[in-house]
Amino acid sequence: MSTALPGQLQAYRASLLHFHADPAFGGDAIDWHEDGLLVVADGKVQAAGDYAALHGGLPPGTTVVDYRGKLIMPGFIDTHLHFPQTDMIASPAPGLLPWLETYTFPTERQFGDPAHAREVADFFLDQLLRCGTTTAMVYCTVHKESVDAFFEASAARNLRMAAGKILMDRNCPDFLCDSAESGTRDSEDLIRKWHRRGRAMYAITPRFAPTSSEAQLQLAGELAAAYPDTYIQTHVSENPDECQWVKSLFPQARSYLDVYDRYGLLRRRAMYGHCIWLDERDFARMADTGAAAAVCPTSNLFLGSGLFDFDKADAARVAVSLATDVGAGTSFSMLQTMNEAYKVARLKGSYLPAVRMFYMATLGAARSMQLEGTIGHFVPGAEADFIVLDPKATPLLARRTERCNNLEELLFALALLGDDRVIDATYACGQLVHRRQPS
Ligand code: GUN
Ligand code: ZN
Repeated sequence: MSTALPGQLQAYRASLLHFHADPAFGGDAIDWHEDGLLVVADGKVQAAGDYAALHGGLPPGTTVVDYRGKLIMPGFIDTHLHFPQTDMIASPAPGLLPWLETYTFPTERQFGDPAHAREVADFFLDQLLRCGTTTAMVYCTVHKESVDAFFEASAARNLRMAAGKILMDRNCPDFLCDSAESGTRDSEDLIRKWHRRGRAMYAITPRFAPTSSEAQLQLAGELAAAYPDTYIQTHVSENPDECQWVKSLFPQARSYLDVYDRYGLLRRRAMYGHCIWLDERDFARMADTGAAAAVCPTSNLFLGSGLFDFDKADAARVAVSLATDVGAGTSFSMLQTMNEAYKVARLKGSYLPAVRMFYMATLGAARSMQLEGTIGHFVPGAEADFIVLDPKATPLLARRTERCNNLEELLFALALLGDDRVIDATYACGQLVHRRQPS
């Protein structure tokens, strides 16, 4: 599904939205062009702005793809989800720990088979592209083969993806157990094989504190120090029963987050999933170290885990992004994820404007991943991962968006009423990788 030839200039005309900064903290954060033009060369953004200002400068004969009536923005970035859990999305269980035992571990067992892992990775990535997500931070399973399958599928689509092998050496079934030594060795092999190969980025991935021994967490921290530009991803403070369990396993730690801190796992490029039951000291520590929070509202509501406190995170200036957490999350769509994030914020007495949610799903996430200038906004030289949204995707959306009076109302309607049907097209490095079929 290829459009642009290397070296060719491509231009796209539509309304254009991207961000320069977090709109929650004032300043000139929003870059919005009602009649805009995005110019792409060699898979990179060359210019973005008003059509009237830019089209005269295009070389004669440049094709302008006409998306008028639609909205172009950077591809969404989902900072926490599990590709092996694709086939068990929407599995019923009363809370996190029974859900892991009943569905997750048996499902993940199958990913030692490379053919199965590749088949699921292909479906998973196509599902992300269908939802407009062009970058994600992805958990594989304990099996090395699952990481190879994932990065091979991702390279076939030329996507910027972070992923890693789960580390877990205790409190899990034997068939999913590695050891402190084998987990580190396998992770290092995978870093050498995949990290920065094309658009692949490796994430050191201890599943969560209860399934790693102290020796494994220690070695994970040492690996993270030896390879400082790799990512780290794990879960923290998701569910009250899990928090109690961590307290009993690590009585010397001040808090759940402190367990990771003690092993050197708080740093830039560290992505902490959930962060629901953190206190002020924890949030301050995240901000100081540059660790980021991945907020997973559909998952948190589905499992009954709790409500993320956006105001507390903002007060500490912690970097916050949104994530689906599929398969505990109930949708691959970042629009549906915004829908639930908005309601979680309301239930905590906070208010999340739509512009803030779209920032968090694009530039905010790119900043959390230290990728500003590379993805998440349309600065010259950035990789041209972008999506085309159709405000008339459904009859109801068409009626509602026709009556929107400003950008905030339009984005809010897309977030609250939208899903994969809104994504008309998805581009990765200037190449078309998904086109919605006419209904
Ligand atoms: N905590 C440890 N493993 C998992 C997982 O797979 N999903 C979620 N939501 N939480 C976890
Ligand atoms: Zn998760």
